[in-house]
Amino acid sequence: MRISGLYLKNFRNYKEEKAAFLPGLNVICGKNAMGKTNMLEAVYLSAVARSPRTFKDKELIMEGAEYSAIVCQVEKKYRSHKIEIHIDQRGKKRVIIDSIPVNRAGELLGILNVVYFSPDELKLIKEAPENRRKFLDISLSQQQKSYFNALSSYTKALKQKNNLLKTGCHGKDADGMLDVWDETLATHGATLVKKRFDFLSSLAPMAKEIHASISKGSEEMTLTYEADYETTKEGILNALLRSREKDKKLQYTSAGPHRDDIKIEINGKDVRKFASQGQQRTAALSLKLAEMKMFRQETGEVPVLLLDDVLSELDETRKEILINMAQSCQTLLTCTEYIGERSRLFTIENGKIIDIKDSY
Ligand SMILES: Nc1ncnc2c1ncn2[C@@H]1O[C@H](COP(=O)(O)OP(=O)(O)OP(=O)(O)O)[C@@H](O)[C@H]1O
Ligand SMILES: [Mg+2]
Repeated sequence: MRISGLYLKNFRNYKEEKAAFLPGLNVICGKNAMGKTNMLEAVYLSAVARSPRTFKDKELIMEGAEYSAIVCQVEKKYRSHKIEIHIDQRGKKRVIIDSIPVNRAGELLGILNVVYFSPDELKLIKEAPENRRKFLDISLSQQQKSYFNALSSYTKALKQKNNLLKTGCHGKDADGMLDVWDETLATHGATLVKKRFDFLSSLAPMAKEIHASISKGSEEMTLTYEADYETTKEGILNALLRSREKDKKLQYTSAGPHRDDIKIEINGKDVRKFASQGQQRTAALSLKLAEMKMFRQETGEVPVLLLDDVLSELDETRKEILINMAQSCQTLLTCTEYIGERSRLFTIENGKIIDIKDSY
């Protein structure tokens, strides 16, 4: 799939701008703080209904303006879609697909698929498990509506259960209510875990192969889903019950699928603990490129690749692999300097496209 056009109104530092993207590589070039990441952010928002940078949608509105709008025209194999996102003064988001307003922003998922890669994504490998869960959640939500629905129900139940744990739960009534939430958590949790398992078992061999080719066969990467309970509905229910007394003291739910992780190993060693910068980069890149393949396999469409500021972080071999990949699908790539070929090159200055050059 590809994006043919993007329109931004009062979005971050864009007062009003239009961009027509070509299939293949589109390079967004400019000095620091000119609006390169902002443009990718708008595309990401059109795919996932949330920003990769902030939870506060109000921040997306241009300072001094009252609202913000994004229109994104998407071309797929058999049909095209117009995605509109409006953010009002209070930071409330409205999503309109093909001129029809949708009730929940989640309806947007799957219309436009993106794989996003920025220096921040290196956190995927080393930092907190929540980064790796987010990777699973966002990728799977884009691929399967049923995953997104289960995740929404799970998250909602978890929030309500935690509220109950916070406000103090004494007596039999409280336990009865906790039982109800646990039942809901176990039902949806089992769906999430099953889908994450399946996803990882398809992703792992692809990531392994890509990783081997980047590291020229010297390293072997393995991915395993990590849960410290039996991953059936019964298993989740038992884990929740086992930690109940502890959770009452902690005032939150300390067990369950929202605590799981992906174990990433290189040559049998856990990279979450020891990986060097370079190894982190290679592992993150392999995961993202494998994610691209997964999308193609699962949806029959190739997602749009968003590469924010990643070239400067990579050595020549990795750069070449990435650029090759970037030319085989539609890619929006940002950088401060671009000397490669075969692209549509946009030059950005203070929220304006000041130049467009095609070199095909
Ligand atoms: N709501 C907003 N209203 C107006 N300007 C904003 C808003 N949010 C961010 N900006 C401005 O956008 C600019 C940053 O844009 P962006 O992050 O896209 O830069 P960039 O081109 O990616 O830079 P870098 O190369 O440093 O990554 C900053 O000048 C910032 O002040
Ligand atoms: Mg940037």
